[in-house]
Amino acid sequence: MYIGVDYYPEHWPEERWPEDARLMRDAGFNVVRLAEFDWVNIEPEDGVFTFDKWDRALGVLARHGISAILCTPTAVMPAWVARKHPETLALQKDGTRVTWGVRKNNCFSSGTYRFLSQRVTRAMAAHFARTPNVIGWQTDNEFGHPFCYCETCRADFQHWLRRKYGTLEALNRAWGTHFWGHRIQSWEEIPIPIDPGSHNPSACLDWQRHFSWMNVRFQQEQVRILRELCPGHFVTHNFMGLFPELNYYDLARDLDFVSWDNYPVWGPPEVRYDSSMAADLMRGLKPGNFWVMEQTAGPGGWGTYGRNPRPGELRNVCYQQLARGADAQIWFRWRTCTAGREQYWHGLLGHDGRALRRYREAAQVAGEYRRLEGLLEGTAPEARVAMIYDYDSLWAVRIQPGYGGNDYVNAARRYYRPLFRAGVAVDFIPPSADLSRYRVVFAPDLYVLPDAVAEALARYVEGGGVLVSDCRTGVKDATGLCHERTLPGLLAPVFGIEIQEYETIPASAAHPFVGRDPVAGTFTGTLSADWVIPGTAETLASYRDWHLQPYAAATRNRFGRGTAYYIGTIAREDAFYDAVVRAALAGGGVSAPVVPPAGVEVSVRTGPRAELLFLINHTEEEKTVRVPAGRVELLSGEVTRDELTLGRFGVAVIRMRP
Ligand code: GAL
Repeated sequence: MYIGVDYYPEHWPEERWPEDARLMRDAGFNVVRLAEFDWVNIEPEDGVFTFDKWDRALGVLARHGISAILCTPTAVMPAWVARKHPETLALQKDGTRVTWGVRKNNCFSSGTYRFLSQRVTRAMAAHFARTPNVIGWQTDNEFGHPFCYCETCRADFQHWLRRKYGTLEALNRAWGTHFWGHRIQSWEEIPIPIDPGSHNPSACLDWQRHFSWMNVRFQQEQVRILRELCPGHFVTHNFMGLFPELNYYDLARDLDFVSWDNYPVWGPPEVRYDSSMAADLMRGLKPGNFWVMEQTAGPGGWGTYGRNPRPGELRNVCYQQLARGADAQIWFRWRTCTAGREQYWHGLLGHDGRALRRYREAAQVAGEYRRLEGLLEGTAPEARVAMIYDYDSLWAVRIQPGYGGNDYVNAARRYYRPLFRAGVAVDFIPPSADLSRYRVVFAPDLYVLPDAVAEALARYVEGGGVLVSDCRTGVKDATGLCHERTLPGLLAPVFGIEIQEYETIPASAAHPFVGRDPVAGTFTGTLSADWVIPGTAETLASYRDWHLQPYAAATRNRFGRGTAYYIGTIAREDAFYDAVVRAALAGGGVSAPVVPPAGVEVSVRTGPRAELLFLINHTEEEKTVRVPAGRVELLSGEVTRDELTLGRFGVAVIRMRP
């Protein structure tokens, strides 16, 4: 198992390197990530490459048994690139170029930049292909920025559209350019839809897809070279969890596995739902287990720093990822830098370079992971529940939300959090995924619903699946035009409802609704109200206001051998979603391995050799969990009784099988 840290030897005198490597080895680390932003030292002049310093750094690390992941350094262009080729700097909306001196500031359609990226990648790959302790590559750093509005990007967009649609007629149809007299008569007329608030939403959706595709293409160009010259190395990229600008399924396609950067400790301690949700999404991209390439090591911040992780909290953050499928743990960063924008982004070591509390906690984690390593091998979380997570819907909602406050990621959270609280595992999947292995599928806010996806969902329910969906599902087709059908379109028979009218609920208002078994209680409808007309569906919840009384707030329908739930509003209360999720899980015959108390996370990794149950206490109070008796808790070595107590931020790993 690889455990280590992001290391920037170029920030420190060479005399310090052996001490760093020794401390890493003593902490139980066996890997570092290197060279992320070091293009200017690798290629100090156009086409002139030097690797001596990196060879020496890798030598020191090798002598301490530490392997290395190298980065293609293209996230920061050297000053000479900007000077010689100013057009490689992204053009902003106001028509000015990004000022050199930050990072991620290049235009992705620039032929020059793409050429330079490939050349430096080739030089590095050729040089390090046979360096014994180099094991793999990270492409660039955190793809996703910046958007560029230059003429080259515009031409690139036009070509992309031409390849996608073939004819202007098809493009005009797909975008609905009869509206406002926007018919396009030649490809060159197509503008960059610069204002997502007023440009054609279909054009905006394609522009976002094109940006995503340009990033994927840029990465692909590097990956191709790395595969050619370094066939023995893996290639990955450091994703950013719930970051919304790229289609992460596409970005993952060319990689060996997904890695991600997890920075959860900011505000007061709280249940870290989003870190779990991001981990589950990361596992769904490829799909498979993933690496954590950057992990909070201390208070972070570019101007002001955040909260310091409390004793036990860094360890807790690690176990959350391990439990969700992390196969490697790499901290960001080793030593807090004394210069530059990230002086307050703290590493395991402070500015003083001493190995203090956070270092010791990281060493403790490494020691524990080493003990678990043999059992972890080949294990992964397994889920019978899926969450459809769709970038087209995410983007289309952002471009034109419909109801005020519509947020696609929040829609996923509405159902994710109750699943987390219930202790039930979930896979994140694209709308095109095979649903047959899932008993329950959540598809909230599935705004963009091509007919093929609707038909697959219908077949899934008909065959016995449980489907849960809510407001704005099925509104648009793949190109962003509204379907010409009464909502929820092709899913109307599946949900057994019709929605003829709908509205935003203004922030100052709310519509109470009353639910009956299995969602009994009084709740508050906010943000959006679908005026749901039940057909074959039974009404599970009804609005109280006089004008909404004829309509349902939530319904359930038998369709074929399965069941479909439709939730027509956004409840303020978590308890409502807990009840919906409980009902759906019960209907699908899915139960948790252990029912956790509030604030405790449950996850299982299953493999041929073992089944490991992880319990993670996100609170600063003791928590007692009912667990199966007579199993071994691997961190303490103790045999479990019926109950297990977790201290503050405590974790436990119970071997359930064999
Ligand atoms: C990450 C990035 C790192 C470092 C860190 C702290 O997003 O990949 O290079 O900048 O944030 O800001």
